[in-house]
Amino acid sequence: MKLAFFDTKPYDIPGFDRYAVPAGIEVKYFEPNLNEDTVSLAAGFDAVCVFVNDTVNAAVVDKLYQLGIKVIVLRCAGFNNVDIRACRDKLRVFRVPAYSPHAVAEHAMALLLTINRRTHKAYIRTREFNFSLQGLAGFDLYGKTVGIIGTGKIGRVFADICRGFGMNILAYDKFPAADSGLHYVALSELFEKSDIISLHCPLTEDTNHLIDAESIARMKKGVTIINTSRGGLINTEDLITGIKEKKVGAACLDVYEEEGDLFYEDFSGHIVQDDKLVRLIAMPNVIVTSHQAFLTTEALDNIASTTVTNLVKFFSGSPDGATEVVYNK
Ligand code: NAI
Repeated sequence: MKLAFFDTKPYDIPGFDRYAVPAGIEVKYFEPNLNEDTVSLAAGFDAVCVFVNDTVNAAVVDKLYQLGIKVIVLRCAGFNNVDIRACRDKLRVFRVPAYSPHAVAEHAMALLLTINRRTHKAYIRTREFNFSLQGLAGFDLYGKTVGIIGTGKIGRVFADICRGFGMNILAYDKFPAADSGLHYVALSELFEKSDIISLHCPLTEDTNHLIDAESIARMKKGVTIINTSRGGLINTEDLITGIKEKKVGAACLDVYEEEGDLFYEDFSGHIVQDDKLVRLIAMPNVIVTSHQAFLTTEALDNIASTTVTNLVKFFSGSPDGATEVVYNK
């Protein structure tokens, strides 16, 4: 079984080889993202492995199919970058639905603590022996209300963490979980009452630009917005306006609408052309990380083992127990 692995980073290889080699999978690691320009690299392979910023649109699906690819394995949970409908009757699609909800939820809290207590600024100050506290005041998380949108695996771990801080939790989910013990409210109430809002739902037609001028207008003045889910959940232009108008007090962004051509690459020696991202990064009350919430040793190991298991089950003809993207069935 030959696997074309796209968007490879050095940290992917040792963990993936640890599972792929014993399973007899021959892996070719390609650095480029998968998209219409690079899809021909998949010629001669049986399967492709893709990540969050690969573009698997209908044209790419058709080309993969023509090349004889049988299966797409996503080494991530979200699959908004794959045209699932186009795959129907052509390619099977598998993903890693849960590799470490803790990794993502803990990163969301790390971002909140950082932006609130200005640890990123304090670190730089003390390195230059500047021991002034001017401008570093935060607020107690204890007693504050956090609104969690999407109460699946990650949202619930984040709720547990927030509970540990003594925060009040309001939850919204399109499909509320009866057993979660969470207090579900309407989305409008969550917007109106939350001091902090954290997004943990998938990006779908429903949730695209869930945070926009209209929803921001309903929020408390000074609200902190955390997005570790998908960039498209936020209308970036509207967020920037909300911050400039001081309606939004702070934003923690691990994901960004137009991250595809930027995140995971080093542009430190370049003039970044994305004015919206540059504007956000220039704001003192915004923190941007480059889609790294998943990046823990435990998560990388789970991603590799689940992806290899999916491939082995599919090619052995018994995909039961493999984690297939359900819409494809
Ligand atoms: P999950 O599937 O366990 O939970 C998602 C929840 O969102 C479910 O409870 C579902 O009912 C809810 N939901 C669906 N449509 C909704 C809507 N219209 N409004 C409100 N809620 C809705 O997924 P999990 O594992 O908790 O992941 C959540 C998201 O986190 C993923 O979709 C992915 O985009 C993102 N993610 C980000 C990572 C990162 O590194 N930044 C890593 C892993 C996931």
